[in-house]
Amino acid sequence: MTREIRFNAFDMACVGHIQQGLWTHPRDRSTDYANLDHWVQLARTLEAGLFDGLFLADVLGVYDVYEDSPAASLRNAVQVPLLDPLALVPAMAQATTHLGFGVTCNLAYETPFLFARRMATLDHLTQGRIGWNIVTGYLDSAARAMGLDAQMAHDDRYDLADEYMQVVYALWEGGWRDDAVLRDRARGIYTDPSRVRAVRHAGKQYRIDAVPLWEPSPQRTPVLYQAGSSDRGRAFAAQHAECVFANGSTRANVRRIVDDLRRRAGTRPIQVFVGATLVVAETEAAAREKLEDYRRHASVEGALAHAAASLGIDFARFGMDEPVEAGNSQAIRSNIDAIAAQLGKGWTKRQLIDRFILGSRQAPIVGSAQQVAEALIAWVDEADVDGFNLSRTVMPECLEDVIRLVIPELQARGRYKTGYAAGSYRQKLFGRGDRLPPDHPAAAARWQA
Ligand SMILES: Cc1cc2nc3c(=O)[nH]c(=O)nc-3n(C[C@H](O)[C@H](O)[C@H](O)COP(=O)(O)O)c2cc1C
Repeated sequence: MTREIRFNAFDMACVGHIQQGLWTHPRDRSTDYANLDHWVQLARTLEAGLFDGLFLADVLGVYDVYEDSPAASLRNAVQVPLLDPLALVPAMAQATTHLGFGVTCNLAYETPFLFARRMATLDHLTQGRIGWNIVTGYLDSAARAMGLDAQMAHDDRYDLADEYMQVVYALWEGGWRDDAVLRDRARGIYTDPSRVRAVRHAGKQYRIDAVPLWEPSPQRTPVLYQAGSSDRGRAFAAQHAECVFANGSTRANVRRIVDDLRRRAGTRPIQVFVGATLVVAETEAAAREKLEDYRRHASVEGALAHAAASLGIDFARFGMDEPVEAGNSQAIRSNIDAIAAQLGKGWTKRQLIDRFILGSRQAPIVGSAQQVAEALIAWVDEADVDGFNLSRTVMPECLEDVIRLVIPELQARGRYKTGYAAGSYRQKLFGRGDRLPPDHPAAAARWQA
């Protein structure tokens, strides 16, 4: 089966996202992250490359697990300083027509009503191009910032998210009937009040009694992403997610996760995006040279600070050749599983550091345009994924290289679109309309005429 490969740019409103240290490269522009032109230009570049979306990560706390301090993260700009990703979207939407925006928002510290309103606003302002990466966080530093002692336990966070989803589905789908808005100037009736109702919920974590303030937006519920593929994470994804962002690790490991995810989701389609980093040039030799040039700017300390927080393991506590014990980590278990899949059980800090090539755990795919295109096709075919979330290296040239070199190779092989489909983000991804289909749990919250 040949399917078209989808690309999201994977980014974050910060300097050091995944590949730590590369901001020190003389050509890198990620230090412009606080300038709106930077994001508008990025959006235009992605649309020129027919990317499906810009996927924005986010966290609500500093990375302070390594050496029990935020010092290494601050020194290396490891996801700090960091701005609010949602605020970037309207300007990028104004500059583009088709690009989707998958934005990470942590539900754990925000009432469903306020969050649902903000997303509905963005769905209106982007004309149906907003998506939400549903996360509950993995940082105690975020919990402390919100006045708590520590974050909820790993599986409990997913239970919280399940209830949160019920409430936001009701707010997005169940308050206003499709025919509620009349906008009837002659009779002076904007909304028919008999077609709007309060959303009421009294559950374990949330209580609400509210008429949603916003009129129905094109997609109502944003395109739902989820990232986190522990057993509990997969159960959650199979129920709610339309798109899943999985760690790279190995093709066989990702295939195992994807098979399980698709089995659990049954007939409901899920698009899986896998994380990837590409270093491409006209020839393999030139790509290897570029890698060496980039590599001189990578930061091992930054990579350790990043890994420590996302795995929930302070590497400063382990000797170089001592097996690293994840213990009862409450952070991203699928990251821990991905490392074990790559390095084997009993992996050590030295082995992990040896894997840091561009200042992250994610090994880049390096080569000529043909080689990279073939590697991506092999990933899609062998791991049964739909596309890639491409991490940035040196910005913006890393994306310009992909657009100039890799995309034409994929197009020549019939594996990349040559134009955008019409419609909302959901319509472009699934070709089945702007709204969630009837087999999605959100549909149960609908109020139809
Ligand atoms: C590839 C990937 C990307 C993620 N991105 C984020 C993110 O940007 N912000 C966040 O708070 N959590 C993020 N997470 C964490 C998960 O969404 C999740 O809340 C979690 O920590 C539990 O994941 P698990 O089921 O894999 O253990 C990410 C996880 C993965 C695997």
